[in-house]
Amino acid sequence: MPDKKLNIAFIGSECYPFVKTGGLGDVMYALPRALTRLGCGVRVLMPMYNCIPQKFKDGMTYRGSFMMDQCQDGRQFYVGIMETELDGVIYDFIDNKEFFDWGNPYTGLWEDIPKYCYFSKAALAALNYLEWIPDVVHCHDWQAGLVPVYLRTRFAGTPIGAARSVLTIHNLRFQGICGIQHLKYWSGLPDYLFDYPVFKQNEDEANMFKGGLAYADRVTTVSETYAREIQTGFYGEGLDGHLYYHRAKLSGIVNGIDVEQWDSAADKLLVAPYDASNVLQAKRENKRALQDQLGLEIDDGKFVIGLISRLTDQKGLDLVNAVFPELLDENTQIVILGTGDPRYEGAFRYYESVNKGQVCAFISYNEALAHRIYASSDALLVPSLFEPCGLTQLIAMRYGTVPVVRETGGLKDTVAPYDITTDGGNGFTFDRYEAGLLSDAVHRARDVYTNDRPAWDRMVLRDMAKDVSWTVSAEKYLDLYREVTEGK
Ligand code: ADP
Ligand code: GLC
Repeated sequence: MPDKKLNIAFIGSECYPFVKTGGLGDVMYALPRALTRLGCGVRVLMPMYNCIPQKFKDGMTYRGSFMMDQCQDGRQFYVGIMETELDGVIYDFIDNKEFFDWGNPYTGLWEDIPKYCYFSKAALAALNYLEWIPDVVHCHDWQAGLVPVYLRTRFAGTPIGAARSVLTIHNLRFQGICGIQHLKYWSGLPDYLFDYPVFKQNEDEANMFKGGLAYADRVTTVSETYAREIQTGFYGEGLDGHLYYHRAKLSGIVNGIDVEQWDSAADKLLVAPYDASNVLQAKRENKRALQDQLGLEIDDGKFVIGLISRLTDQKGLDLVNAVFPELLDENTQIVILGTGDPRYEGAFRYYESVNKGQVCAFISYNEALAHRIYASSDALLVPSLFEPCGLTQLIAMRYGTVPVVRETGGLKDTVAPYDITTDGGNGFTFDRYEAGLLSDAVHRARDVYTNDRPAWDRMVLRDMAKDVSWTVSAEKYLDLYREVTEGK
């Protein structure tokens, strides 16, 4: 008998191409598409932010609206549902100008807590309203952390209450922590949940993610290594004990990337699109075009190191700063694309100003430039302090760019270290979080690039041939959905 078709509702705070600030947006786009190809019915629910580009807003249809009580005092809020479809996936946008009319998706915890309390409840109410009851609600990060709790409390006994819940941790650093009274008021959830097993964090504070992790039927994170790491003090962000307690329902499934979105052969943003047959020549052409665009010395013989990242301490930028001058030599150029913490922005701007023509710090968020840097660089640096999965190293490999990474989280699971004896591996790695080790890894990479180009080129081809798609991991999610709905 063929397997029953599963319907899955994805609930999360961002999704490419509508709104993306990082890898969560990529996953919310790519995984539903991969699941659709495996025969699932998928709907994605996200907020109707004002910053969604007009061209997408123009393509949406109004599906209805209703009033919903939200807070402890029963305040009523409008819930509108706007809908659009892209390649077989349906997107429902929860519309409420009071919460989502601000500039960026995330504006600061004080406003974000009410915003995502409302969003989590409204998403479930919208599924009831649409009479589309999925087998599984798949929630993402703390912003959807209340969904599993609402499902088993306020929505128990309603149609959506029959669904199972999976909660995926993309980044444990962010948890939605605030004063107990603030969360009590905005969630409207009963007092008994504000004890240690669920929301209570300490005497004064409540934690949205903690409650969701306690109530979800299954918890996943985005690599096997990170699933282990977060049960330890160093990586657990204060929830290691809670996660260890719930370990029987915790597993890691590594992310993939959408190989159509990231396809060097069909990438219109490149001056010279390429596949494995012409990568070496095309990379030189793309490199010259990038150097020209960014005001770097035009020379395709230079070793170009790229860094594309949110500029936060998660990303190992302290290490980069500590040894920046050592990473450079007369044959090396460094290109940084990112925004974030002013101290990193300032440091990279400084390094650019004293190394004109050799270093470019492009302090902004720029999709088109990201594509060009992935294609034109020889190596991509990802020295993260912690990295739940990381997508930039996957995109780099797909574009024939060799990653230099710290062995943590998904970086460890996806980049096999170069092995000179077997001529194997995909990149250069280091283990402890030490600037000297990062410097050493970059030197090892540059040494192979400079002195053993055939070995380097073979690694470029191995990286392009590596399967970084969603194929395998989407099947694993499907198995998990089957397990969690078994006997339902
Ligand atoms: P995280 O989600 O922690 O930021 P990931 O590696 O999972 O890290 O995903 C980052 C995503 O955001 C990738 O698609 C990367 O290309 C993109 N990205 C990061 N910074 C920028 C930027 N400044 N401009 C364009 N894209 C960026
Ligand atoms: C988070 C993590 C990153 C991961 C992404 C998508 O933002 O920092 O490592 O790749 O989510 O899961």
